[in-house]
Amino acid sequence: MDIYRKAADIILNSRYVIAFSGAGASAESGIPTFRDKGGLWEKYPVELFGTPRGLLYVMLTEPGKFAEFISSAIDTLFNAKPNPGHLGIGELEKLGILKYVITQNIDGLHQEAGNRKVIEVHGSITKLRCLACHNIKELSKKQAIDIAKRFSERIKQFRGGELEDAISFFKDAIPYCECGGIMRPDIVFFTEPVHNINAAFEEARKADCCIVVGTSGVVYPAAYVPQIVKSKGGKIIEINPNQNSFDSDVYIDESFSQAMPKILQIIKTAIQ
Ligand code: APR
Repeated sequence: MDIYRKAADIILNSRYVIAFSGAGASAESGIPTFRDKGGLWEKYPVELFGTPRGLLYVMLTEPGKFAEFISSAIDTLFNAKPNPGHLGIGELEKLGILKYVITQNIDGLHQEAGNRKVIEVHGSITKLRCLACHNIKELSKKQAIDIAKRFSERIKQFRGGELEDAISFFKDAIPYCECGGIMRPDIVFFTEPVHNINAAFEEARKADCCIVVGTSGVVYPAAYVPQIVKSKGGKIIEINPNQNSFDSDVYIDESFSQAMPKILQIIKTAIQ
């Protein structure tokens, strides 16, 4: 039996299927991964660009580099469209087979592909969080782009300095909450607590099948999700052209946009 049929059979015979995705799911949408060759952390060291303290340090001491990082993040994240892999996962939910997507990605591409039940454990580019009252504000993609671009334009003129200089320089280019507090992107950086992890673990405990896509599985607590499914006797189907990171029942060493439509086609033929 080929691997696609084996994967489709597991999905068809499961009662509660979830998906767990990482940066590789969006690689074919043009968003670089973090740890692959040429990945984000190679060009922008994680100690500086992946932590709030690091980012603040870069902004104050190397504003040109900070501006370059923000502009390239805006270009890649906001221009990306769902790829055939995302669309396949979206269709699995519409068919009533997939119950939840738990994603480490912040790009919103699962939702754009039609998924309604998505748990974002590392935040989202279309949400803001108030630093004072912690209120979360959901934005349309257009609103998020406008805010990001306004900030990005302002950064290009910033010459660095102390924190107070930055606060007064950016004060009319950043969004505010109704309570008056500064709103920041609701994105989880290293050293910060992840979001919705209890809801994600709850879904993992219910699941008897987890489709794992495009993650190196090295970042916790998110990486516990497939492990919980497995520990409860569930099956893991892993799609990743470069590495087999989990104790998978079916490992497909192909890209998401190639593998997912093949699995979906077998499922659709079987249920028609
Ligand atoms: N299809 C499927 N998988 C792919 C593809 C593809 N087209 N291209 C790359 N991959 C795989 C890589 O082989 C790698 O295993 O995607 C994985 C990406 O791994 P990482 O870069 O480590 O990304 P991720 O696992 O999502 O990282 C987890 O780390 O930096 C933090 O917060 C960030 O959410 C992120 C977390």
